[in-house]
Amino acid sequence: MTKLPKSIDDTAALLSRADYVAERSLATALFLALKLERPLFLEGEAGVGKTEIAKVLASTLGRKLVRLQCYEGLDISSAVYEWNYPRQMIEIRLAEASGKISEAASQAARKKLGNDIFSEQFLIERPLLQALRASADGAAPVLLIDELDRTDEPFEAYLLEVLSDYQVSIPELGTIKAEKPPIVIITSNRTREIHDAVKRRCLYHWVDYPDAARELDILRRKAPGAAERLSTEIVAFVQRLRKMDLFKLPGVAETIDWTKALMALDQLALDPDTVNDTLGALLKYQDDIGRIRGSEAERLLSEVKAEIAAA
Ligand SMILES: Nc1ncnc2c1ncn2[C@@H]1O[C@H](COP(=O)(O)OP(=O)(O)OP(=O)(O)O)[C@@H](O)[C@H]1O
Ligand SMILES: [Mg+2]
Repeated sequence: MTKLPKSIDDTAALLSRADYVAERSLATALFLALKLERPLFLEGEAGVGKTEIAKVLASTLGRKLVRLQCYEGLDISSAVYEWNYPRQMIEIRLAEASGKISEAASQAARKKLGNDIFSEQFLIERPLLQALRASADGAAPVLLIDELDRTDEPFEAYLLEVLSDYQVSIPELGTIKAEKPPIVIITSNRTREIHDAVKRRCLYHWVDYPDAARELDILRRKAPGAAERLSTEIVAFVQRLRKMDLFKLPGVAETIDWTKALMALDQLALDPDTVNDTLGALLKYQDDIGRIRGSEAERLLSEVKAEIAAA
């Protein structure tokens, strides 16, 4: 287990060690979230590195990563805990077979069995409960609640309780409270607004697309071996694309994918034909590809080459 960072610079260095290139405002939000023991709520477009933050934090701090992937209809039995019904049934059958709970069995024997089947050994821990309990060895885990905007509001209300007290109550067992609050990262793609009450408990940061310098740094780390000229042209091209009115702008993930695709084709620089043929690594909607392919790609590319030549 590594100690928590002591400053904003320390936080940025920690992320950088795992090849995550953070802008200063993100490092600040993260530093404060760790220091104040508050959840960090990250919103932003797809593929800008929201989920990655939690993974990088867990690996650099040497903590366990507990991930709750949200989806519509997510309920307590998938997110918090569930009783192991099949095993409970087997236990009852075994007790019946051994005569422990026959017609003639005492009231006390029946009550004991009732208590036994609602004990720890029949409890299945789901991510939220795992995250509260994993701190028993002294190191609170990183709890990633990914894509919260996909759940429905009742679940959000439940989460609010968990985040307020870092505890859950299980009627048959009692209240389980974390010894140390987990490091909580919540992400949202903003397909709907998250309730203010959840946000109020968190520190908020909007993860934006990186500027050209930062994106180039990311490429050097995530696609090492790409020709410098190729990376520079890719970044300049993608940065231009992001200023256009497309249905879905490319995220950092797409920039990395495109670079790897072009490396696989042994490209040392961009040319119009290759751009046209590989746009599918960058744009994922036919309308967007249709708009860019051909003359628009050529125009962007000549702007990019001119920009780089002038630099
Ligand atoms: N600042 C960054 N530094 C290093 N790598 C980054 C950065 N931002 C994004 N990436 C890379 O981009 C990819 C996508 O990141 P990630 O999955 O975290 O995005 P996301 O914001 O969670 O997207 P989605 O909303 O689609 O889930 C990862 O491979 C990650 O390594
Ligand atoms: Mg994600």
